[in-house]
Amino acid sequence: MKIELKDNKVFFENQGLKKEIHPFWLRERVNGDIHLDKKTQQRLFDPTELKKDVKIENLNLSKNFLEITFNDGSYTKLEIQNIFKEFANVNDVKYINKVEWDSSLKNLNNFEFKDNFFEEEEMYKALIYFYKYGFVIFKNVPTQNNFIVKFANSIGSIRRTNFGEFFDVKSKPNPNDLAYTSLSLAPHTDNPYRNPVPCIQMLHCIKNEVSGGLSTLVDGYTVTQKLKKKFPDYYKILSEIKVRFQFVDNSVILEDWSEMIQLDTNGDFKQVRFSPRLDFVPLIDKEKLEIFYSARKKLSELYNSKEYRIEFKLSPGDLLMMDNYRLLHGRTSYDTNEGYRFLQGCYIDYDSTEGKLKHLKRKFNL
Ligand SMILES: [Fe+2]
Repeated sequence: MKIELKDNKVFFENQGLKKEIHPFWLRERVNGDIHLDKKTQQRLFDPTELKKDVKIENLNLSKNFLEITFNDGSYTKLEIQNIFKEFANVNDVKYINKVEWDSSLKNLNNFEFKDNFFEEEEMYKALIYFYKYGFVIFKNVPTQNNFIVKFANSIGSIRRTNFGEFFDVKSKPNPNDLAYTSLSLAPHTDNPYRNPVPCIQMLHCIKNEVSGGLSTLVDGYTVTQKLKKKFPDYYKILSEIKVRFQFVDNSVILEDWSEMIQLDTNGDFKQVRFSPRLDFVPLIDKEKLEIFYSARKKLSELYNSKEYRIEFKLSPGDLLMMDNYRLLHGRTSYDTNEGYRFLQGCYIDYDSTEGKLKHLKRKFNL
């Protein structure tokens, strides 16, 4: 990447492509004390109030800095490196490459919890793993006094739902969700009926005295890539048809419409939703539904196949943090006569982890 000047214009060259940078873009980045609050990095002026025909009067380019004087009298000295960073979006977590994994995954991404953990470089590494694999397990997290709340709020802010700030996962009488029984739970994503769906789920094991009740994880990203390659028609229809996800109890009815495989504006993987107890397929053409039902069945087969599932036992103190847009989770059944199985769960949103990751990156100059 390179910056070049010609006739009071600034050009940005990247991989042989040279383009002029709009003078207004540069004017918005004026960073002197009267223009920018250094502590918050927030502007002290409103760029929408500037005259539109901002022009460059004077330019000077040195090795590390670009100095500009504009026709409205403002002057700035910009670090070239910062312009490059904005162009490359290097801080964006979407540029952390996802690692596809299946049942052969051996490394369970374990990180040991310790005091001041949230401000350590180790936390940065854990979050990078989280974005690569969609999950991470923290070991020896204190189990007293609903510590999960403190843990979650030390990364970001808890996303409260109608299940509360956090929820206890153990079998109980008259459950309003199958999670609160000792039955096995097939791979699913949580709360597909919410808008927005909670991004990240944390599950903290407080007690586990039973031999069953193994936690299961499936990488929805790996399965989606597989489906796209082997069954393109199924991939297409599952990423086109929106289904209604619904949750009903005595005090609330929650509904949201979405594709089971949701793609972003570039057609890349964004999110999967899968919970066969909660989805309602729209009444569309019979021919289309014929393909849709075959596609959903195939998707379910893949999600439930042993080929893609990892199984492990959470021990007291283990805290599993997983991406609810990417992974499916479940558990094997257990026998309540063997003893207690008690987990606590909560949700946080992506901005929390993303913000923490960027903060630690800046702090340790990574
Ligand atoms: Fe769940």
